[in-house]
Amino acid sequence: MLVLGVESSCDDTSVALLECSKQGCFVVNELTASQIEIHKKYGGVVPEIAGRMHAEKIIPLIEEVLKDGAKPDAIAVTAGPGLMTGLIIGVEAAKTLSYALNVPLIAVNHIEGHIHSVEISKQTPNSNSQITKTDDKILPIRKSPKIIYPALALVASGGHTELILAKKQGRYKKIGATRDDAAGECFDKVAKILDLPYPGGPQISKLAIEGDPKAINFPRPMLKNKNSSSKNGLSWDFSFAGLKTAALYWLRDHKKINKNDFCSSFEQAIIDVLVGKTMKAVEKFKPKTIILAGGVSANKKLRETLIKEVKNQALKYSVLLPKSEYCMDNAAMIATAGYHHALKKDYVLWQNIKADPNWEIA
Ligand code: KG4
Ligand code: ZN
Repeated sequence: MLVLGVESSCDDTSVALLECSKQGCFVVNELTASQIEIHKKYGGVVPEIAGRMHAEKIIPLIEEVLKDGAKPDAIAVTAGPGLMTGLIIGVEAAKTLSYALNVPLIAVNHIEGHIHSVEISKQTPNSNSQITKTDDKILPIRKSPKIIYPALALVASGGHTELILAKKQGRYKKIGATRDDAAGECFDKVAKILDLPYPGGPQISKLAIEGDPKAINFPRPMLKNKNSSSKNGLSWDFSFAGLKTAALYWLRDHKKINKNDFCSSFEQAIIDVLVGKTMKAVEKFKPKTIILAGGVSANKKLRETLIKEVKNQALKYSVLLPKSEYCMDNAAMIATAGYHHALKKDYVLWQNIKADPNWEIA
């Protein structure tokens, strides 16, 4: 089945066509127009400008992705959470296309998209080394990573830091979330204080490579907290605002700074909290798959630390990470999540779909 994905919840306009089957989801065609260069001037995403840019790009991107005349069997679009100015553009474009092509429409939660980003496979015709013979045809075996349930997902981005438990596909329970800043937001804000360009995460992690992670002892907020009860049951909440303030005060109080040491110590504090909390949740819920996704999952040290931690504990869980190009917002992850809805015929009428900036996954 061909699934067209559309994503416009923040500062990337992205459209992707994926071929999905029991073997997995393979990218046929994809295009993303990033707005980073424009928002850089303002040190963060300006919703008004983002909306206008999405409106300019979305139709040309859809046209280009479908230029070979492929007709999708379903259209999956991010309906929330995110910036209303962006969501509405993607939703309107997708619903118009659904009506015009008479193709079913799927509303996808952006966080669910990030979770399924680990299942995306690139389709490269020559990369299939294994060949199988079925009837008279020689077919390549194409395998793609698959989430085995129950799964535990840490989704960390510029707007979210959430620990989500999935008993099975589509059945989510949020067990923890940030009480203030998201992990990516914390990277971005501290980078701004250091006069580093937006988005700050990649800049800080680049400088951190040459630094000493033990040079400055930043706080590890809520790492040792007893997991408190919340209205949703157990909670593995995060808080990054205090760490941001500690970084700010440290810079205020120290005239001479070694940027590499500062970035390395700051990055280490965030990693310790993210990995520490995740491992505690792993111990409690014993998932079969541990997923790390969202923009912050592009952080190499974070990826390596989580894998090492799971290995150290000789745990038999599999860790799934998105390929680096699918850590950030992209439409391929929306199409992949959409495919699972399509299997259940979980469609929405074009007349009924609504963008919801505050759509909670659970
Ligand atoms: O998922 P995403 O593209 O957009 C949101 O939904 O927010 O994530 C963007 C976030 C930004 O805050 C960016 O600084 C952060 O991901 N990020 C990183 C790295 N690469 C991107 N944070 C830390 N280390 C990185 N290497
Ligand atoms: Zn995102």
